[in-house]
Amino acid sequence: MSEVASRTDGVLSNAFDGLSISPPSPVMDLQIKYTKIFINNSWHDSLNGDTFPTVDPSNGCKLCDVQEGREVDVELAVKAAREAFRPGSPWRRLDASERGRLLNRLAELVERDVTLLSTLESLDSGKPFLHTFFVDMMGIVKTLRYYAGWCDKVQGRTIPVDGEYFTYTRHEPVGVCGQIIPWNFPLMMFVWKIAPALCCGCTIVIKPAEQTPLTALHMGALIKEAGFPAGVVNIVPGYGPTAGAAIARHPDINKVSFTGSTEVGKLIQEAAGKSNLKRVTLELGGKSPIIVFPDADLDVAVKETHEAVFFNQGQCCTAGSRLFVHESIYRDFVRRSVECARQRRLGNPLHPSTQQGPQIDETQRKRILELIESGVREGARLECGGCTWGDQGYFLEPTVFSDVTDDMRIACEEIFGPVQQIMSFSTSEEVLARANDSYYGLAAGVFSKDLDTVLHVAAALQAGTVWVNCYNAVNCQSPFGGFKMSGNGREMGEYGLQEYTEVKTVTIRLPNKML
Ligand code: NAI
Ligand code: MG
Repeated sequence: MSEVASRTDGVLSNAFDGLSISPPSPVMDLQIKYTKIFINNSWHDSLNGDTFPTVDPSNGCKLCDVQEGREVDVELAVKAAREAFRPGSPWRRLDASERGRLLNRLAELVERDVTLLSTLESLDSGKPFLHTFFVDMMGIVKTLRYYAGWCDKVQGRTIPVDGEYFTYTRHEPVGVCGQIIPWNFPLMMFVWKIAPALCCGCTIVIKPAEQTPLTALHMGALIKEAGFPAGVVNIVPGYGPTAGAAIARHPDINKVSFTGSTEVGKLIQEAAGKSNLKRVTLELGGKSPIIVFPDADLDVAVKETHEAVFFNQGQCCTAGSRLFVHESIYRDFVRRSVECARQRRLGNPLHPSTQQGPQIDETQRKRILELIESGVREGARLECGGCTWGDQGYFLEPTVFSDVTDDMRIACEEIFGPVQQIMSFSTSEEVLARANDSYYGLAAGVFSKDLDTVLHVAAALQAGTVWVNCYNAVNCQSPFGGFKMSGNGREMGEYGLQEYTEVKTVTIRLPNKML
């Protein structure tokens, strides 16, 4: 294994095993080429002339100005997407296998530009470059190929109905899709949204988060280069209450798909209800529990539960931010978790040894600091961290709290930062009730070697995903989504396709003699 790989954390530790390639390096003289609104396969200034800055969170410096889309620009984008969806349009006439070829071509172009895209993503979002390269970009390429393969396999059924009829179903594309995405996995979320929609034959108006528009815009250029017809994918950078809200309430959008805060998810569902009852899928926040039983492999459990909450600067919807450890191993587990947190290397996201970059912006950092203060005030024990780090950018020290009780704000609210809460429990019935006592239900984890325990806990946890003796093992082949207030619907895997199709039933009277 190469030196760089051995200096990075567990996520990457095997990345170079068996490969003869050297570890990638960021593009040092990066030129930002795409900063405009992408409609109909061409670049546009915003109609009212507004721009907004996007910033490098590791130093707070502006990277560039981007054209700011508002309602009028969304209007143009929806018109383009509607025209591209018109029956008989080049996109509607394309064979399903050809849609697959275009998605495969897009995957190749992402691979060609992977170093540039990883650098751009790290600069715009503060994610460590090697994480971006190996986790985000590799996941993106796989997702594009996975859905490329599904294009000509989205099929209906023939159904043996009563009477002299022949009935079959068609899985038709739902239409023009509005997609609104967050800043924590900017390009991965872009691809999670567009790939299944394109697979099913939909057209798209997508708004990247205002903090991280740059990789989405680069994808506009690749989508055009791959050969997608004009208007199939339209990208409108801009703010939530303006461009985002215009998408959510637009009467000519058939479906909206959103990833972000629960608060905005509610607004989107409301806007969809008040406008045209467009289909809505929501992937929202979480306060995911992890339960560690005393028979678990504790080396694995300490390492995985650490990454579960600290990966991506703690900015994961699945963050394992309520850690329940059995009382018989509690103190030792806390001590080892604190050691892990103290060893986490913060620094310039482009540097290969960096494990933790900055938070996305000062607003998020202040929110996290305020929650940390509430933890101290409410009597949790601050084991390490708790402060800002460095003299520039939006860094925060890895923070661990022990002696946390279920009623504290840090145990109830999504923190979305590098802050671990460790609670203790004594029986499995007790811990299951506590783990499920949350409005959220996105993910959960359990660490134990006992099969009965694992099966019982996995069935009882109210969460869209349960990871056993691992965490954050997200794959494009398996469905992802939340119970309760963590969302509606599922993304990824075959299940994700259902969210982008309407099922049409066709029933034909048969001539009597046929039967
Ligand atoms: P947010 O929900 O405001 O932002 C996500 C996306 O929604 C962005 O593209 C934003 O422009 C858009 N948006 C905002 N207001 C909108 C509106 N009224 N209509 C339509 N679109 C709108 O999240 P924010 O403020 O960036 O972060 C706040 C909290 O949300 C975080 O601290 C975290 O707890 C949670 N969050 C969860 C994410 C997840 O992966 N589930 C991702 C990002 C944030
Ligand atoms: Mg930025």
